[in-house]
Amino acid sequence: MKNRIVDLRSDTLTRPTAEMREAMMKAEVGDDVFGEDPTINRLQETVAELCGKEAALFVTSGVQGNQVSINAHTNPGQEIIVDKNAHIVNYESGAPALLAGVQVHPLDGNNGIITAEQVEAAIRPTDDHYPQTGLICLENTHNRGGGNIFPLDEIQRISAVARKYQLPLHLDGARLWNASIETGISLKEYGQYFDSMMMCFSKGLGAPVGSIVVGSREFIRKAHFYRKAYGGGIRQGGILAAAALYALEHHWPRLKDDHRRARILATEIASLPGILLDPESVQTNIIIFEVEPEKVEAEDLVRQLGERGVLCFTFGPTKIRLVTHLEITDEDVEYTVEVFQKILKE
Ligand SMILES: Cc1ncc(COP(=O)(O)O)c(C=O)c1O
Repeated sequence: MKNRIVDLRSDTLTRPTAEMREAMMKAEVGDDVFGEDPTINRLQETVAELCGKEAALFVTSGVQGNQVSINAHTNPGQEIIVDKNAHIVNYESGAPALLAGVQVHPLDGNNGIITAEQVEAAIRPTDDHYPQTGLICLENTHNRGGGNIFPLDEIQRISAVARKYQLPLHLDGARLWNASIETGISLKEYGQYFDSMMMCFSKGLGAPVGSIVVGSREFIRKAHFYRKAYGGGIRQGGILAAAALYALEHHWPRLKDDHRRARILATEIASLPGILLDPESVQTNIIIFEVEPEKVEAEDLVRQLGERGVLCFTFGPTKIRLVTHLEITDEDVEYTVEVFQKILKE
């Protein structure tokens, strides 16, 4: 018990299981730059079909998937409408400006959830003074929003606005797997509202590398060009696609366990002194809570948790984030609760 490490910093920390490594070892491979890797081709066909899209493209990372999509949809000098807390705005190294030559038009969402009215009001009129709106992006689940699920009716309303103005709509669905498992809404149902979607295999699904973008054949042709330009041609990448296929089959359904554990953890720590957390707000595998600064210092709490083997990050001066994943067990959750109680009740 004393030496237990419970690493709640991120769901990207998972290591491939023995069974996943076995699947990777047995993967049939070819040169994907020539379109000849049978395992990558199978993964792309499988996910395109799951999302009800014409085609898919395996990419090295979530950032690469978002960025090839942004470049494929826009022209330099345009603007993309996106929530101000989106991953695309905060954690992608300024790539929309750096690589696609577009600027972001950040909206003040409610924990990452923006409305159709906000989007419509942000679309620029045709006037030479303004940048032209080129794309609308949503994120589901929302990382900085605390893993919350973008409500389907709001997606439908935003999609209607996008169609009215003939603007493409892209989804950063790094954790769309979590949203789909939790709500029972299929990827196909989500997919009908978006022109493109990006999903990661390297988060809750537990693969070591890889994401995918889906869309029309024409969109994927353009995305393929940018993937090459961004250095994403990965030759015998079938060993990575095999991990993704394994994860889809074996790890996707078990995301419900991560969500259940996150809810238990949230419920247990919410009642502790100095913690401000509504357990009802925890919808998937991410918990973000505030501390009352006069009682608890976030940095100090993270340090004390770390000394007892519970690893997590601060998320701003008074916020802390915990993420459950494939390597977190029921016993880890129990231990984490005990550690919180020990620190905050003493
Ligand atoms: C919502 C979201 N989008 C995109 C990414 C980028 O994924 P990657 O780290 O594979 O580039 C992340 C990573 O955590 C994410 O949370």
